[in-house]
Order: sequence, then C-alpha cells, then structure tokens
Amino acid sequence: MENNNSRKPFFYDITLRDGNQALKKPWNTEQKEIIFKELVKLGVQAVEVGFSGASDMDFEACNHLASIAPGNIVIAGLARAIEKDIMKVADAIKHAPKPRIHTFIAMSPFNMKYVLKKDPMDVRKTAVEAIKYAKELIGERGEVQFSVEHFGDCKENLSFVIDSLQECAQAGATTINLPNTVERNRPLEFVKMVETVRNALPADVIVAVHNHNDLGMATATTVESFFAGAAQLECSLNGLGERAGNTNIYEVAIALHNCGVEVPLNLSHIYETAILTAEMSNIPIYEKAPLIGEDALAHRSGIHQDGALKTQNMKKGAYRPIHPSLIGRDDAEKYGFTSQSGKTALYEIIKSKGYPITVEESLRLVPIAKEQAEKFGELPVEAIEDIYLKEIFDVDGPFRFISFKKLDNGETDKFNLKFTYNDREFDLTEEGDGPIEACIKAFAGAGFPQKLVHYEQSAFGEETKGAQADAMTVIQFETGDGKVITCRGKDPSTQKANVKAIFNGMNLIHTN
Ligand code: KIV
Ligand code: ZN
Repeated sequence: MENNNSRKPFFYDITLRDGNQALKKPWNTEQKEIIFKELVKLGVQAVEVGFSGASDMDFEACNHLASIAPGNIVIAGLARAIEKDIMKVADAIKHAPKPRIHTFIAMSPFNMKYVLKKDPMDVRKTAVEAIKYAKELIGERGEVQFSVEHFGDCKENLSFVIDSLQECAQAGATTINLPNTVERNRPLEFVKMVETVRNALPADVIVAVHNHNDLGMATATTVESFFAGAAQLECSLNGLGERAGNTNIYEVAIALHNCGVEVPLNLSHIYETAILTAEMSNIPIYEKAPLIGEDALAHRSGIHQDGALKTQNMKKGAYRPIHPSLIGRDDAEKYGFTSQSGKTALYEIIKSKGYPITVEESLRLVPIAKEQAEKFGELPVEAIEDIYLKEIFDVDGPFRFISFKKLDNGETDKFNLKFTYNDREFDLTEEGDGPIEACIKAFAGAGFPQKLVHYEQSAFGEETKGAQADAMTVIQFETGDGKVITCRGKDPSTQKANVKAIFNGMNLIHTN
C-alpha cells in the first residue's frame, strides 16, 4: 500500500441518519438543515442524509437536503436491500449533484440464521440484486454503496463474505462498507479483517468502515482501519448514533492529524459544531469528553498546572493533546482549584479575572483556598475571587483603623492617625512628606517601625468600572528577616487607598 501519510481520509458523515434514528425526538427538515449546513462548514466529503423509507418526514428531509447540497458533497440515502426502499432513496436524492444509494444486508452467521432467517446464498443473491437495481435507478451520475451489516461478527465466514463482496463490486457497488454494527471484539481483530477484505477487492473499490462504540473503542478501530487500508471513515458529530453511538468524527480527525495525515476538514470549526450538535440533539457534552468536554483542557493538580503554564503558548503542551485553538476553542487551558492545586492555578484564576496578583501573594492565598477546597471540593472562580478580595484588600489582624486626617486645615504637613492594636488605642500626630510618610512615622512612634521599599499607585477595576475605578496603592515592606511583603489598598480616595495599604501590610506582618 502507498505511504499512509500521503493518503487522505474521506469523511462520510452519518449524523443525520444513524445519529438521527437514535434520537429520542428525531429531527424534522428544518433541524436537519441546520446540522447539514454545519457539516458543510466542517467540510465533510459525504453526508448520509437519512433513511427515506422510515417516514414521510424523513423522505421530505432527504429530498430537501439533496436539493440544497453543494456540488462537491456526496449525498447518500440508506435503503434496506429491498426494492421499495431503494426506489424511495433514488427518488428522495434525485436532485443531489452527487447522489449515492447506500444499501445493506447482514452477512454474519448469527444474523442470517436468527434475524433474517435466510440461507447465506439467498442473502448474497439479495445483496447483488439490490445493488444492480440501485445502479439502474441512480444511473451513470450516481454511485452505489453496499454495507455488510454485522461485518464485525463475520470472523467465521469471512471467505463467504469476501466472495459475496467481490460479486457486489462486480454488480456495481463502488464503495464497500464494513460496519462493526455492534462492537464486541478487540479492535485489532476487526482491523485485520478490514485489511483482508481490502486486499481481496479490486484496488478501485473504496473500502469504508462504520464502527459503533459499544465498548468505547470505535475511534481506535476507525483510526487503525484507515492505516489498514480503509479510505472512507463513517463518523458522526459528537459520536451520535445507536446505543453508545458511532465513531466520533472529531476524535478521528484529530488523531489522524496528530499522526501527520492530511485531514480534509476545517478543524477549527470542530468546537462550534460540537456545541451546536449538543444543543440540537439535547444530549449534553460529557465533561470528560475528549477534545470538546468542559474538562478536556482543565488542569487541577499542581504538577500539571505548572507544566501546562510553562508550555501554554506552545503547539505541543505538557499536558494536552492539541493546542485548543486547533479546534476553535478560545477558552484556553483552564485551571481548576482543588485541594491538589497550587499557586499556579490560583495565580492564573485571579489573572483571568483581570486582577493584579504576584506569585508571592498567590503563595499566601493558597493555604486558605486549599482549606476551603478540602471541605467543599473544587472551588468556583467566585470563591477564589472572594478569598483574594478579602485576604489582599481587607486583611484581618491586630490593627484596626479609626481615622486619619491632615491637621491645621492643610497648612502644615501634620497628620493625625488613630487606631487600635488589639484593645489598645493610639492617637498619634506626625509630620511627614505626604500622608504615607506621616502614617509610617506614626506607627513607628507607637512601637511598630516598618521599612517601606516600594510605593506605586494605579487603578483597580478599570475593566468593569471604567472611569469609576478605585485608586489602588501597592506598597512593599521589608521585614526584619529581609523578606519583602507586597500590600495593597483600594478606595475611591487615593489617600484612603494609601492608608488601607499600610494597615493591610501591618496586619500581614503582625499576624505572621
Ligand atoms: O451499524 C450498521 O451496521 C449500520 C449499517 C446500516 C451501515 O448502520
Ligand atoms: Zn450504524
């Protein structure tokens, strides 16, 4: 076989047929049209629009979608291997630029005996006749696809199946689909069967796979089947389909992309498509769903959070299979705070809310957040935000502010500060080059000297409050042991923000 990385997969979407038939409330024409348009944007090569024999509603939907289909997309309709179904499909999709009749019958020993109750040679004859009839109706303009329903259960009669498929190809089927109608066995066994069939059929016959996900291995089976020679991959949006569903198209696309295969889909459209499909089907996306689940890009342990942050803007991340932008997820990697998390998560969460924070402040808040997370589990962002606002801007401690004012009607540089330290009240007047200096001198006079090493003024809450934003003072004190502590104060008045920053700093230093 030619180099696999130069082969392109052909995506045949079955959301509107297998997916739709498994919905609690199958879609009407308008709803199908919404999904169909999304499939066109995603760029699939073929769409199975429905089972027109199932109901008048589905016939009408198939007919409508065929009439609005762009010229580059194959439009297929499913029919049992019986004349009336085939006739209905031919009629329903006759306006499609590229119509395909897809007919099927089971060939597994179990099904032929207990469900069809037919002799294998009769089944083969039915298949061949159905294909010939379909070919006759669809004409030169269209194609015929044949599926061996329950192919995955055909291990014991594989040579009978192969002989039958050779006849099917001769009768006019240009695509032979091998469904794992019920996933019961190891992917490798199924893939080997696909390879055997591929090698037994003429090279111009396209081999397809259609894997159900009963044991959760459909993606693996589909991906490996591609490397074993299957060219057409039958998948559905969000893995919709009978029982545990069909193969999820996003997982297959990304797995192949990660293997270096050229995937002919608009990958950046995946996330939008997934959200729309969940809404339309009323089947929410499981939070652990690969790629599209809410949690698929969330990191909770400190080690993972650290690795994720260090590789955040790289194509390959330490703890993710893809960069979120590849599938159009603009919610970058998320950091959830649990009892397992650390400073990175807290820092990122606060930053993502637009608040200022330093790593040192984040380290200070972690034990408080962890204690809450131990009690309540993962903390919502609002809880982290509350911890931040309280512990940074309203620090508890032995100092309580009473008042601070400039004396002598502002004619001198004298300030009066009143506060309590535990239950002791202080009333101090100091001169200073501005309120900060006077306030620090007052503390020193009361027996609490402190070394100021940094002072800065900015705005707090500009993003939400605009011109009404608070003034924020950021100061740093150097403690006796040489440690530098950042303290903040915010208030509509700049002077009050200064004093608050000093009190927050004093409380931080004197509670530790
Ligand atoms: O699962 C299956 O076998 C099918 C066929 C009709 C293709 O859906
Ligand atoms: Zn199916």
